[in-house]
Amino acid sequence: MKKLVVSGASNSRQSINRKWAQYVASQVPGVQSNVLDLNYFEMPIYSVDRENGGGIPDQAGKFLQEIKSSDGVVISMAEHNGSYTAAFKNIFDWVSRLEYRLWSDKPMFLLSTSPGARGASTVFELAKVTFPRLGANITASFSLPSFNENFSPDKGITDPVLNQQFLEQLRLFTQSL
Ligand SMILES: Cc1cc2nc3c(=O)[nH]c(=O)nc-3n(C[C@H](O)[C@H](O)[C@H](O)COP(=O)(O)O)c2cc1C
Repeated sequence: MKKLVVSGASNSRQSINRKWAQYVASQVPGVQSNVLDLNYFEMPIYSVDRENGGGIPDQAGKFLQEIKSSDGVVISMAEHNGSYTAAFKNIFDWVSRLEYRLWSDKPMFLLSTSPGARGASTVFELAKVTFPRLGANITASFSLPSFNENFSPDKGITDPVLNQQFLEQLRLFTQSL
């Protein structure tokens, strides 16, 4: 059975991005999901001096290993002030020092959501441009606006037009695995 690494790029215990990413992974047929909690990978804030002084924390290697041992990545980007959450960016920075192409060419379903109508589209677009340089093979992408209005844990996406668009991306991702 294929293995997916699934993450909401947030350290919130109530993360809507984690809920959304988990739901999406549950819609991919015949896969096993490994949900990563970013709190487990918390490290000191990246600095060149820390790296030169003490090396790279073990958690960075563990995060990289999770990606490498997977067959695909489902990640939903939370947006803080138009960018990555600090929790995600710190992990991203440390892991990129171990291996620049950290996403390891795994098929990626890139997602985002927020309670607002823009659906965290700024960080979504940022990741779309940046992640491929770091080894991401983005085979599908979808940003869900107004999470609380458009998503139900039982029914998934409640807006039919958005759901159609999502299903097409889901098909592309499933095909790419
Ligand atoms: C410090 C901070 C900054 C935020 N900035 C943005 C933003 O720039 N754009 C946005 O759509 N939502 C923003 N939000 C609202 C988040 O989208 C909302 O908290 C969302 O639930 C975060 O995702 P998560 O639940 O997966 O952590 C911000 C929230 C916080 C706490």
